[in-house]
Amino acid sequence: QVKMVKICCLGAGYVGGPTMAVIALKCPSIEVVVVDISQPRIAAWNSDTLPIYEPGLDEVVKECRGRNLFFSTDLEKHVSEADIIFVSVNTPTKTRGLGAGKAADLTYWESAARMIADVSKSDKIVVEKSTVPVKTAEAIEKILMHNSKGINFQILSNPEFLAEGTAIKDLFNPDRVLIGGRETPAGQKAIQALSDVYAHWVPQDRIIATNLWSAELSKLAANAFLAQRISSVNAMSALCEATGADVAEVAHAVGKDTRIGPKFLNASVGFGGSCFQKDILNLVYICECNGLPEVANYWKQVIKINDYQKNRFVNRVVSSMFNTVSGKKIAILGFAFKKDTGDTRETPAIDVCKGLLGDKAKISIYDPQVTEDQIQRDLSLNKFEWDHPVHLQPMSPTTVKQASVVWDAYSATKDAHGICILTEWDEFRNLDFQKIFDNMQKPAFVFDGRNIVDAEKLREIGFIVYSIGKPLDSWLKDMPAVA
Ligand code: NAI
Repeated sequence: QVKMVKICCLGAGYVGGPTMAVIALKCPSIEVVVVDISQPRIAAWNSDTLPIYEPGLDEVVKECRGRNLFFSTDLEKHVSEADIIFVSVNTPTKTRGLGAGKAADLTYWESAARMIADVSKSDKIVVEKSTVPVKTAEAIEKILMHNSKGINFQILSNPEFLAEGTAIKDLFNPDRVLIGGRETPAGQKAIQALSDVYAHWVPQDRIIATNLWSAELSKLAANAFLAQRISSVNAMSALCEATGADVAEVAHAVGKDTRIGPKFLNASVGFGGSCFQKDILNLVYICECNGLPEVANYWKQVIKINDYQKNRFVNRVVSSMFNTVSGKKIAILGFAFKKDTGDTRETPAIDVCKGLLGDKAKISIYDPQVTEDQIQRDLSLNKFEWDHPVHLQPMSPTTVKQASVVWDAYSATKDAHGICILTEWDEFRNLDFQKIFDNMQKPAFVFDGRNIVDAEKLREIGFIVYSIGKPLDSWLKDMPAVA
């Protein structure tokens, strides 16, 4: 009789939850338990309202939960019973101490590893699912080996490439699954065991085996390349505005080159999300630690352009509106870092809202998936300056009070002087802009940070429209140049 494989995943977040749900769906012969130290998070996974919004996730969880997919706070029991343990805990940027502002904070990872060592009574494969610095596996191995009481641990690196908003689709049909392991017979056997799990639904030629360090670095490299494309097109968008070129036309023409390709070339107010900035900073730190300052500076520039783009957007808003937004109502449409997610980590909306609040605007925010609590938390948190981590700028409570959160786009825009579109939610394309215009102060402005509205139509209604990287309205051209 073949023993049923048991999988346990530490960390029931944006990665652990969806990846494990899909493994459970595709591998009915495997028992999957997702555990977390956060009791409310596990309770939410066991309820009708899952803790994260992701298209298609509800259906997958409904089908497997209670069958071969379980969510629990009993970490020790499920870790000790598992054959394969995924570690998918958070790995944020360190905010203090050595490497503050850049290095990954491995506190959660280390405590997970120590707990695994403590409770294990049989051999285990431990899989790094979180994005970690290169060589983390070595550190984890040391913790496990030195505390193991003779148990055999194999460490694998299996970084996750899903994108929020399309996580289920990405997991069903991944471009590749990457598994790094030791080049020893035991390491190769562990790679095979994990590869057998994915082989339930992923074609063999998309499962790539590498050494540990290549797998760890590939995840950081992939995110750096992706973010770099956005910063590249955003840098071009500034030049387009200065010259009269249209960034959409330029991106289309550039992307037709098959060596470049058409995807991920949309100009915008900037990238966000929990990963791009964190992972690039992590890469920068590793380069610096390895005596490669030129390489570090090259990648740092990707983040600097992103900060520049967000500032440029705020400056454009303020300068267009007679150089002041003090006391003016500005509607913010969209707060999540991209559409189809409620995630606000590192969303450009935080910096844009803070920039406008800093100029004393009154802002009214609407996002279909982000709660008021979350928005207020994000806006009152100190801004973390990665480049100078010592200067933390607290937001004064009275300033934050100038931000209100409402439940539809029409009340957000009522009596507003301007609208900033900061997330590309589909519903924003189909708003009744005539109705919105009629209820706004004049001149009425739209600043489209995602280039999703039909600017010509809006101009016909009477709006002054700013789209990123597009030829400017004469109104905007006449306003003082933005930095
Ligand atoms: P998250 O913050 O949503 O989830 C992490 C979870 O781990 C939290 O629920 C936390 O309570 C739990 N946790 C922390 N310490 C623990 C411990 N010792 N034992 C058990 N649970 C513990 O984070 P998210 O977004 O899922 O990211 C996890 C990792 O995956 C990060 O390293 C991230 O860089 C990486 N990643 C994230 C992607 C994304 O789109 N969010 C995509 C690919 C990789």
